[in-house]
This record gives sequence, C-alpha cells and structure tokens, in this order.
Amino acid sequence: MDTHLIKTVNKLQDAFSTVGVHNPVDLPQISVIGSQSSGKSSVLENIVGRDFLPRGTGIVTRRPLVLQLINRPASGEKTNEKPSGTDAEENPDEWGEFLHLPGQKFFNFDKIRDEIVKDTELKTGKNLGISPQPINLRIFSPNVLTLTLIDLPGLTKVPVGDQPKDIEKQIKDMILKYITKPNAIILAVTAANSDLANSDGLKLAREVDPEGLRTIGVLTKIDLMDQGTDVIDILAGRVIPLRLGYVPVVNRGQRDIESKKSITKALDNERDYFENHPSYRSKAQYCGTPFLARKLNMILMHHIRNTLPEIKAKIQAALSKYQAELAQLGDPLGDGSSHQANLVLNIITEFCTEFRTIIDGNSNDLSS
Ligand code: GDP
Ligand code: NA
Ligand code: MG
Repeated sequence: MDTHLIKTVNKLQDAFSTVGVHNPVDLPQISVIGSQSSGKSSVLENIVGRDFLPRGTGIVTRRPLVLQLINRPASGEKTNEKPSGTDAEENPDEWGEFLHLPGQKFFNFDKIRDEIVKDTELKTGKNLGISPQPINLRIFSPNVLTLTLIDLPGLTKVPVGDQPKDIEKQIKDMILKYITKPNAIILAVTAANSDLANSDGLKLAREVDPEGLRTIGVLTKIDLMDQGTDVIDILAGRVIPLRLGYVPVVNRGQRDIESKKSITKALDNERDYFENHPSYRSKAQYCGTPFLARKLNMILMHHIRNTLPEIKAKIQAALSKYQAELAQLGDPLGDGSSHQANLVLNIITEFCTEFRTIIDGNSNDLSS
C-alpha cells in the first residue's frame, strides 16, 4: 500500500479526533470474486504483502474472510530484526487478531493461516463443506491503510464432498451479500488460461455493477498461457471492455506454495516476467501487483475526495460547537484557546491543499 496515502489519511484522522470527530472517512470494502482456484486468495495476499491465507488447488476458501487492516504507528522499538525479504519474520508492530479469539495476538503469520484453516473446519467439517458465517480477522500494522478486504469462496457449479446440491446458488448469494453495496470495490479475478467470455467473476460483477464503475478485472496465471498467446486484446478493451480496466498478474504457482517461496521473491519474479516478455515489455508499468495496488489507491483517493464536502461539514459543525462552548466559558484562557481553534483549522486547510495536490498529480492513473 502507498505510504503517502497512508500518511495523508492518518493526518486527516488525527486532525479530526482533535475536534472530536472519529473515523471521518469510511473507505469502501474491497472483495475478490471469481471461479474456484482462479487465484483470488493469492491476489489478496499479494496486495496485503504478507503470507497468511490458505491457498491451493480445489476449494480452499470455504467461508468468507473479512480482513480488516488497521493502521497503527510503529512503536519505534527495534527488536532483533531479521534481514528484510524473509516474510516469516516476526515484527512487534504487526500482528493479527481473530474476532473469535479475543485478546489473542498472532505475531506469527503462519499461525494465522493455521487458525483460518482450523476455524473453517470447525464450522464446515473437513469434507469440503461451505458456510456463509464469516471469519473476522484484524491485522494491525504501520504499513497498511485502514481498510477492509474480503476473501470469498470461488464460484463453482458441481457439488463435491459435503457440499449442498445448490452449491452454485449458495456461493452466489454469499458473494452478492458483499458486492451489492454501492461502494464496494470488486476485484473480478479470471485466470488468463481460461475463456474471458465465461468468466464467472465478471458475470456476477456485471449483475451488481452493470456500468463497471467499481469493478477491476484481474487476470491471473498469465505465466500459464499457451506459448505465443497473450492478453493484449483484453487489456486494450477489445474483448470485454471494463471502464476501470484489467491488470495482468503472476502469482505463485502450486509448486511455489509447496516450496514456501516468499512474497518478496514472488513479486521480483512477477516484475521480471513482465519486463522480459515480448508482449508486455513495452507496457510493464501497467502490469503486475504493484500496478493493481496503485489502481486501488487511486480509487480510494477519489472516494475520499468525493466525501470531502461531507467531512468538511462535519468539521465545521464540530468547530462551531467548540467555539460556542469557548464563548460560554468566557474564554478563561484568553488568547490561548482561540489560538488552539485556529490551529485545528490550519491543519484541515493544509490537509485539503495537500490532498488536492496528490489527487491532481495522480488522477491520470485511473484511466490507464
Ligand atoms: P482461489 O481458489 O481463487 O482463492 O485461488 P488460490 O489463490 O487458492 O490459487 C489456486 C491455485 O492456483 C494455487 O495452486 C495457486 O498456486 C495457483 N495460482 C494462482 N495464481 C497463479 C498464477 O498467477 N500463476 C500460477 N502459475 N499459479 C497460480
Ligand atoms: Na483454490
Ligand atoms: Mg481462495
């Protein structure tokens, strides 16, 4: 996630709590949808930048995972840090907490994955059953934007194991619950080695977002496409156009999961792949996970900008109340208090200017 955006939102949040307004910006939730094993969990994990989700062939994600990322400043204590690039490294500033295990902090992200598997089995059994009951996980970290991401079971048609006869409908209903909200952002994931016209994710996205205002197409498994084929036509909008476009990515394959290839290594490989591929070389900056993350950042920025007028009204109300209270107290602190009120106003004005600069400087990215 973009550190500039994180800092800006934090500053805004701080300015608001000074005048008693908490969580002024309600950021949209981001959901990944698509067919089973299209790579949804892999995409989500790459966006977060930590290894903690169960991934693999077959139906691995069997309950919705509501993942709340919560930005929390670093404590500043440096413990025996291992060299960066080892994803398993434990960091005292980054941990997970499950709603069903209150007070228990998971600093080891492998243990988070184990707990997701364990609680999935507890509610759905071991025989491939599914459940709409979500697992709620919060991740606290200085490196994330306070934001909610949702990992969902894949769309599938034929029931196996303990799955109900109407599995297709049950999963569809489960997904619709999350993507129908008008401010939900949909990452519609399709494996590039399957036919885009049959994409379950795109079809479902179109049902709730017919104009494609909040759907981003994500094309996974680019590395598994037949030699000599590519997704250039899709990216150019010549197959199924999407207003917010498509982003091709290369996630870790099943063998990489088994050999525990790190996220850092995987992202390096992804970059090398696009930079060296004859079809993508010239547009490598518009390919891969970092570009997807930037695109998401831009959408979030635009969302914040659109809610700025509402936020401003809130702050003005809070300020007048504050000033009225001061007047009633007869301003016992003299010049000091009005000075304080002015300080808050200055922070907000500064924020608005800064925010506008960021938006204006980046707004071209959305249309690319
Ligand atoms: P989900 O069921 O949609 O959540 O998909 P997963 O993220 O669990 O991935 C399903 C399988 O596809 C796993 O074995 C992944 O390793 C593999 N996979 C996902 N994305 C890619 C990719 O871009 N390239 C390759 N080679 N394999 C991938
Ligand atoms: Na899977
Ligand atoms: Mg999954």
